[in-house]
Amino acid sequence: MGEANTILELSHVSKTFGSTKALSDVSLAVRSGEILCLLGDNGAGKSTLIKILSGYHTPSAGRMFFEGRETRFSGPRSARLQGIATVHQDVGSIPFMSIGRNFFLGAELTRGIGPLRWIDTRASNAKALEQIRRFGITRINDGNQLVGTMSGGERQVLAIGRAMYFGAKVLILDEPTSALGVKEAAIVLKLMKQARSEGVAIVFITHNARHAMAVGDRFTVLIHGQVAAAFKRGEKSREEVLNLMAGGEQMSELEADLENID
Ligand SMILES: Nc1ncnc2c1ncn2[C@@H]1O[C@H](COP(=O)(O)OP(=O)(O)O)[C@@H](O)[C@H]1O
Ligand SMILES: [Mg+2]
Repeated sequence: MGEANTILELSHVSKTFGSTKALSDVSLAVRSGEILCLLGDNGAGKSTLIKILSGYHTPSAGRMFFEGRETRFSGPRSARLQGIATVHQDVGSIPFMSIGRNFFLGAELTRGIGPLRWIDTRASNAKALEQIRRFGITRINDGNQLVGTMSGGERQVLAIGRAMYFGAKVLILDEPTSALGVKEAAIVLKLMKQARSEGVAIVFITHNARHAMAVGDRFTVLIHGQVAAAFKRGEKSREEVLNLMAGGEQMSELEADLENID
């Protein structure tokens, strides 16, 4: 077992799909109040790994520990109920739903009793707006506004803010900044730091080394389903990280990627 603040841990986990070995012998620890960056190229196994952490997949081999106890989530709902919130790349997949309704989806604020209960739209809208304002989105002032009218960054903030509001202990973010412009990415990165300061454990999946290095405390690089490197903030330079991610091959492409960022 890892250090005292380890909340979620994988020990020698593998996952196979038919003849494809998506993950081989992966060990890692997610700690409260830290941002763990999961880096890797397309096909490296990042999504498979987060699907294991969030209960969508069970490992083919290896063990998983949550809050110090060996666990096996029966599904995403079970992981969610224990405080593991996952924000997928396609957030805002319900564009025709209001912001207030989306925020409380599955946990509606109601008024009245028993069969006479109804959703308290006014309270839901007010609370949702209060939360996204707290996290830096001030442009929106009507909770009835549809999610589809929000920008990509605002949707990320809505989804992350929602998870924090409902007390997530572990926040798994799949490429939250990859489709965003510089300003919006900065808002999302800042929100991740805020969640960290509130003691949340964050798994930040990205292929953007600059975003990772701006906020990360620890880094795990996946190549072909294996942990190619694991290190702490300050232990490697950006060049070394890029080299690791590229496996020494596609350096120029990744460098070009970086030049486009700011
Ligand atoms: N449900 C699945 N069935 C079969 N193969 C899969 C499945 N999910 C992922 N894979 C394979 O596992 C490997 C890792 O994929 P993935 O975890 O999606 O990588 P990443 O998210 O890093 O791009 C790929 O070769 C992919 O084709
Ligand atoms: Mg993926």
